[in-house]
Amino acid sequence: DWTPQSFVEETVEALQEKIGNDKVVLGLSGGVDSSVAAILLHKAIGTNLYCIFVNNGLLRKNEYDSVLAQYEGMGLNVKGVDASARFLDALAGLSDPELKRKAIGRVFIEVFDDEAHQIKDVKWLAQGTIYPDVIESVSATGSPSATIKSHHNVGGLPDFMKLKVVEPLKALFKDEVRRVGASMDMDQAILGRHPFPGPGLAIRILGDITAEKVRILQEVDAVFIDNLKSWNLYDKVWQAGAILLPVNSVGVMGDERTYEKCVALRAVESTDGMTADWVNLPYEFLQKTSNEIINKVKGVNRVVYDISSKPPATIEWE
Ligand code: XMP
Repeated sequence: DWTPQSFVEETVEALQEKIGNDKVVLGLSGGVDSSVAAILLHKAIGTNLYCIFVNNGLLRKNEYDSVLAQYEGMGLNVKGVDASARFLDALAGLSDPELKRKAIGRVFIEVFDDEAHQIKDVKWLAQGTIYPDVIESVSATGSPSATIKSHHNVGGLPDFMKLKVVEPLKALFKDEVRRVGASMDMDQAILGRHPFPGPGLAIRILGDITAEKVRILQEVDAVFIDNLKSWNLYDKVWQAGAILLPVNSVGVMGDERTYEKCVALRAVESTDGMTADWVNLPYEFLQKTSNEIINKVKGVNRVVYDISSKPPATIEWE
């Protein structure tokens, strides 16, 4: 029978067998999957695991510094690389969701490759790919036109890196990954973290990306997530976030007419992200959160709540 303990034991042994004394590089994302993969590899090969955590400038507010500190606290050999400006440059003027994903995937590989080349004699690339990533990225027919969304963290290894790939979580669903992490005493702050897409806020800013839009969305998202936590709702929700709509609407502040941005809030229940239902958040919570967003975040005068399920909608808007 499958248990997290037996999975850890067998995987650590298999990793040692497979990797031997080779060096491995792994990109940490701040999420559960790459973090659990890192801890498994750390158990198996210790300091031969080199972790890289890239700031693409599209993370949640303050997430880069706090997550980097958490990784260091876990004893991982991790290097933080702030490449925010490079990502923003590459995204300038792009509005199409798949083009944004491609640009981010490309810059990520460039930055990661620069860093990986600085590790002498590295032989392996480890990834935190889980089962749903594999099936959502490859359509039934295998034809790219039928791909729903190209999750950039799957299979995107360029030939020039010449690294062998190791993906210890490839057969697991998200809840199993969390159970594996818990069995290795990982911090709840990482294990309980909602899934967050690799392209980050870029696919929650509909249309083109600017530094100002990223700032607005980070502020809105922080109010929403902080409130979910303080109302004890965070752990009851599978994933939540805010979306910046490419829409201005008329409002009134004091005696002044405003013409500002509208944001959508999204919170879903799910087990694997393949299907999802919107969460029936308390009206009082929505009321308080909406007021707080509009009062605190300059540039936003309207908040709506997304009540669509997947399918036929998807979790992200892009
Ligand atoms: P959708 O929007 O397809 O999302 O219902 C399902 C899950 O996948 C995440 N997601 C992504 N993750 N790169 C990622 O790493 C991506 O391009 C991407 N697009 C969606 C989404 O946040 C949800 O958890």
